[in-house]
Amino acid sequence: MSRIFSGIQPSGDLHIGNYLGAVKNWAQLQHRHESIICIVNLHAITVPYEPRELSSRTWEMAVSLLAAGLDPEHCTVFVQSMVPQHTELSWIFNTITPLGELERQTQFKEKAQRQESVMAGLLNYPVLQAADILLYRADLVPVGEDQVQHLELSREVARKWNARFSPQQDYFPEPKPLLTVTRRIMGLDGQTKMSKSMGNTIGLLEEPAAIWEKLRPAMTDPKRVRRTDPGTPEVCNIYQLHKAFSAPATVEHVAKQCSTAGWGCIDCKKVLLESMTGEMGPIRDRALELRARPGRVEEILQGGAEHCRLLAQETMRQVKEKMGLP
Ligand code: TYM
Repeated sequence: MSRIFSGIQPSGDLHIGNYLGAVKNWAQLQHRHESIICIVNLHAITVPYEPRELSSRTWEMAVSLLAAGLDPEHCTVFVQSMVPQHTELSWIFNTITPLGELERQTQFKEKAQRQESVMAGLLNYPVLQAADILLYRADLVPVGEDQVQHLELSREVARKWNARFSPQQDYFPEPKPLLTVTRRIMGLDGQTKMSKSMGNTIGLLEEPAAIWEKLRPAMTDPKRVRRTDPGTPEVCNIYQLHKAFSAPATVEHVAKQCSTAGWGCIDCKKVLLESMTGEMGPIRDRALELRARPGRVEEILQGGAEHCRLLAQETMRQVKEKMGLP
């Protein structure tokens, strides 16, 4: 059974972009692969943050992941800072990662633009990501499309390290991305990727009334100006969300109503709200149950970290041996 590894930052509520691009896939893959999912709090501190907020967000992220279907019987869930080998291996990888590769990373360039002063940690972010994955020698990394470039760097790090320190036999596998059909969910503005930093998200645990407040003004087909204009479903972001949340027969019906101007955009959004509530309601209920049992969540995270520390210690033992480090 191949091993999958993936990570998510505890930066605000888990949104439907995270859910459709990655988390929902993790919940399915856990039954077919040995699965390790990490809440990457050490990545989250590469931009300015509030310590108290970070710790409550880390906790909330654990609740959301478990509520969304990660089952501790099938999947290890843990917090990155509880396994110190991530930073240890990251330092080692820093010594073989070309500076130019890091400066070329799109996410670094975007995030750096938004900071007054840029810290070295932001530049080295993808090196820590490579360490996360390779520490467990994972073969597959289920992510959304925005992480593909980081994964190319992880593969390059694996290749370089193998060539230098383990030339007889590749010690680290080259991890491959696993994408879904919903690999890039657009924000409610329909212009940019859904992301917390753009303020264009819908939280996975939001109440129907709050979701409706966001859906109602959300961008649809930009060419459909009047109610009587027929729309083009494929260019409409709301239709893309229907494809993710609604049953196939509903999706077909929506496309027909839109392209014949049978429905206005508000009618279409009302049906989408129903589909979203159908999927997200039970997740919200599970989150409420979990919040009432903090001891259980704590136990899951402690157990996950313990399991990962054992795996990580063994990797570091072999890595150090091959590198001449006592
Ligand atoms: P993060 O926390 O930004 O996002 C978590 C996952 O959600 C996916 N995602 C999306 N998918 C589709 N459409 C969207 N609009 C959207 N927004 C987010 C992301 O692709 C990701 O899979 N650097 C990573 C965290 C990380 C990691 C790792 C991932 C650290 N170490 C090791 C994999 C393996 C990040 O910031 O993801």
